[in-house]
Amino acid sequence: MSVEPLPLNEVLVTERELWQDGPPHETFRRMRAECPVHWTARISEYPDEAGYWSVTTADDVHAVSRDWETYSSHLGGVTAVTDAIMPLELVRAMFIAMDPPKHDRLKALFQRGFTPRRIAEHEPAIREITASVLDGLAGRETCDLVTDVAQPVVSRVIGSFMGVPSEEDATWARLMNAILGAGDPDISPEGTATVMQRDVPELFQRCQQLVAERRERPTDDLTSVLVNAEIDGERLEEHEIVMGFFLLVAAGNDSTKATYCSGMRALMEHPDQRDLLLADPSLVPSAVEESLRMFPAFAHFRRTATRDTELGGQTIGEGEKVVMWYVSSNRDETRYEDPDRFDVTRNPEHQAFGAGGRHFCLGTALARLELTILLEETLARYPAIELAGAPQYAESPFVNQLKTLPVRLKP
Ligand code: HEM
Repeated sequence: MSVEPLPLNEVLVTERELWQDGPPHETFRRMRAECPVHWTARISEYPDEAGYWSVTTADDVHAVSRDWETYSSHLGGVTAVTDAIMPLELVRAMFIAMDPPKHDRLKALFQRGFTPRRIAEHEPAIREITASVLDGLAGRETCDLVTDVAQPVVSRVIGSFMGVPSEEDATWARLMNAILGAGDPDISPEGTATVMQRDVPELFQRCQQLVAERRERPTDDLTSVLVNAEIDGERLEEHEIVMGFFLLVAAGNDSTKATYCSGMRALMEHPDQRDLLLADPSLVPSAVEESLRMFPAFAHFRRTATRDTELGGQTIGEGEKVVMWYVSSNRDETRYEDPDRFDVTRNPEHQAFGAGGRHFCLGTALARLELTILLEETLARYPAIELAGAPQYAESPFVNQLKTLPVRLKP
């Protein structure tokens, strides 16, 4: 017996149960077709939080993303639930949640550490890290790609950029995962209150300590660049460095891991696509873009309207939340033919890194390089890798990622 889908005006997009098996793609498809800018009245889990507008088409997400004067990142932060894990005040100390001109000044400083040249210089080191993690699996028949491959690789890559000692990788990963995945009962079994009271302070203390150490003894890592950076003769303030450091470790930890695992899952579920890559490894960068399109690591980012405005035929009021759903815009049928089909030859443009504008992802070059190396090295060693159980999604309308991906390495 088929169950009638809810009428769209009753759909509450961020409700946890909609996200148990990944993003609710069918609901987003209906929204794009029937109500592309959609109002959700409440968030059941957070009764004090206001409702929000959902923006679901690529054109509208693009329009919001580029218009920072109408759609602020600072007023209410960048996630649909304002205060879920970190108080808004802390979120706003990160430049991802600032508006120009302050945003631009800080971003310019951080950009110096992420120039394409600086990233390209890291290619041999990233390959070595990836190879050593994959070689560590020798002799094993099965593993979990999330915890045994993706996590150690991304932690060490961002750790080496930032100057985190390798023996602390697991601790940093645990804290970051607890904070970003909070809400998911497996990732933070002790609940969000404990994460807030225990894990957030521990993480910031560690960030502060590392920043203080680099102030005393600079090295060639990115933290030292931040500590010593000047713009118009002015240094960054202490809390700007600490929160900038946190932002980079958080972004570097989670997103690349998510895209690699979802991409590998798709390759295992579509052996014809995997065979195309094996036959022609020059397709790997295109497979990376297709994985980014179909499985954007962040399901959404949010803005807050600074004035009354119109979008997609709806009137948005000053102060209202506007949520850009990349998981929807990246499958917009007006941009992509057969958008739910995973096609490693598509080499698509997409909005996984944001839809242009001031907040476009700082880490694109690093993420693309890491993802390319991860896919290349995994397939080179384990060309017949296959699923060894049902993967599980983190239950979250914000981080779009698998929390388990059991595989058989050499069937
Ligand atoms: C697959 C990998 C990644 C994805 C899908 C991704 C996605 C995004 C998205 C969607 C935004 C825009 C946020 C907004 O508009 O409010 C963003 C911003 C940002 N990302 Fe990434 N990211 C990835 C990897 C990384 C990495 C590896 C780093 C750095 C280590 C990084 C650092 C940042 C920073 C600092 C911002 C804020 C930029 C700003 O506000 O101007 N990202 N990312």
